[in-house]
Amino acid sequence: MATEQLTIDRAKSAERIGRDIETLAGPDYTLSDEAIRRYAYTHVYRNTLDYFIRELEALDFEVYEDPVGTLVARNRPAGEKVFGVGSHCDSNRNGGRYDGTMGVVTALEVCRLNRELELGLPLKLISFLEEEGSGFGQMLLGSRIVAQRVDEEELRESFRAVDDGRPFWEHAEEAGYEPGRWREAIHILDDLYGWIELHIEQARVLQDTANRIGIVNAIAGYVHADVTIHGRSDHAGATPMDFRLDAGLVAAECMLELERLAREAGGGTVGTVGEIELKPGLINAVPGEARFSLDIRGVDEDGFRSVARDIAAFAERVAGERGMTAEYAQRQALPSARLDGRIVGALETAAEASGESYMTMHSGAAHDTMSIADRVPSAMVFVPCKDGISHSPEEDANPADAALGAEIMLNAIRMLS
Ligand code: HGY
Ligand code: MN
Ligand code: MN
Repeated sequence: MATEQLTIDRAKSAERIGRDIETLAGPDYTLSDEAIRRYAYTHVYRNTLDYFIRELEALDFEVYEDPVGTLVARNRPAGEKVFGVGSHCDSNRNGGRYDGTMGVVTALEVCRLNRELELGLPLKLISFLEEEGSGFGQMLLGSRIVAQRVDEEELRESFRAVDDGRPFWEHAEEAGYEPGRWREAIHILDDLYGWIELHIEQARVLQDTANRIGIVNAIAGYVHADVTIHGRSDHAGATPMDFRLDAGLVAAECMLELERLAREAGGGTVGTVGEIELKPGLINAVPGEARFSLDIRGVDEDGFRSVARDIAAFAERVAGERGMTAEYAQRQALPSARLDGRIVGALETAAEASGESYMTMHSGAAHDTMSIADRVPSAMVFVPCKDGISHSPEEDANPADAALGAEIMLNAIRMLS
């Protein structure tokens, strides 16, 4: 087990990471010129995977894709134990150039450095399909498939494309994959003796505390759900206020109650209504139906789960009091993930040796690491993003921080190997 910490040429790695990021922000890699927009089975996502495949094959990695499109590359023959590095390279529909992609690019840089410095580390790079859920409304879909946290009915039927409403299964087949073999995807974890994902923080704790690196030891769990309020659509002018069954008003009360419940739960619990849809959605019609999304998260499992239960009960009660009904439908939920103490410790030792400022922290954002952390000893490294802005084309981060992250990952993997 290597103990002396190596120092890489951080400027050279920063330059390569910066170049990869700039390339992958180009028109061949995004559906939109206003934001980064790429997701499963689009041609721009295919181009992105092909970029990584070319770079990895140039390093003599064997590259393949799992039955639905998660990218896997290894520098050891099948069966030999390897250390996993990676993230996701799909984007939010209104995405920035760093969320996910910075992690895959830095994992690629770790693979480059391993070869250049002749470290001989056994590595597997993984880029998970559909982390953002931009294609099918299901966050962490690729890593949940790998971890078998979905079922076949969902893949065949209920998970449907945002763009055309057709099932995930059909889109996977049309893209040339074999969704029927989705259960085999779990085997990409078989040979992993550890996993580290680097990601931008997507908040501003590192910036505000002048830390260049975050070592993540826990990831908040979450509940994603939809509430639909059924009222009655009426004429907005002719219908007196006392005669209305205005579904929009129940939605409005629920949004304020969600804020109250999340604040009351405390401990970093958060609640967000990000989507709201009123039907018929016309200026001169009382909304007869309101559908809104719930994104409720926290590291304290009971805390965020009770907020989800309470807001569902609140919606039902308030709708009932107003002569309407409310329907709560969960999309998905993942438990909070405590990460591996040994890997966190190795990352802290490497960060200490780098001489740069770092802190150990939780992640409020979800990451693919949480799908696999119960099967593979895992941890994460955060790098700052400007003012915490993410899920926005304004997202900005510094390749020099990712280069430092690569050095810390490399040293931690050397210690753990
Ligand atoms: O929303 C999330 O936590 C992740 O960035 N998809
Ligand atoms: Mn991400
Ligand atoms: Mn994201």
